[in-house]
Amino acid sequence: MSFMKNIVILISGGGSNMAAIVRTALRDDWRGSRAAQVAAVISNRADAGGLVFAREQGIATAVVDHKSHATREAFDAELAAAIDGFQPSLVVLAGFMRILTPGFVQRYRGRLLNIHPSLLPAFPGLHTHQRAIDAGCKFAGATVHQVTSELDHGPILEQAVVPVLPGDTAESLAARVLTQEHLIYPRAIASLLPHL
Ligand code: GRF
Repeated sequence: MSFMKNIVILISGGGSNMAAIVRTALRDDWRGSRAAQVAAVISNRADAGGLVFAREQGIATAVVDHKSHATREAFDAELAAAIDGFQPSLVVLAGFMRILTPGFVQRYRGRLLNIHPSLLPAFPGLHTHQRAIDAGCKFAGATVHQVTSELDHGPILEQAVVPVLPGDTAESLAARVLTQEHLIYPRAIASLLPHL
């Protein structure tokens, strides 16, 4: 049994980025080419649509409900326990809508990634597409970065740029950015795996 690097992906909703990673792992045979696999998909919401996709792919899933924990620390501790059950080499936040405690971030430092729908360091935080439109930006995009204790900052691994078009709404811009997210996230992970 050769050593297999386990990737654990955290989602909160539709999980389109998670699905793109899973599909790329299958298409490019990461098991054979990188001795790596998506071992589990974990969500803080039992109704996350991405869980259905993961289960259909035969990938282990788990739910850690943030509403059933009195403190962030208690939630993060249970989340870490669920993650560590899969012995991850890499933890991937993909549409995971929780702010993680410094203790959690420290636990996975160097093997914790996130994708943010803006060209960081521009527009950290929420509502990035509307803010880019309101600011009159001609370009927008997405960033894959290492997660540090400072929200939406940390070493940048990949970025993608899209034009902001006249008449764009936050929704139309989000859709254009999302298509690029689905390309850069798997690429960032594939290039990082040999170094884990
Ligand atoms: C994406 O815009 C991503 O940048 C952000 O969450 C949104 C939804 O992601 N982190 P997904 O479809 O759930 O992967």
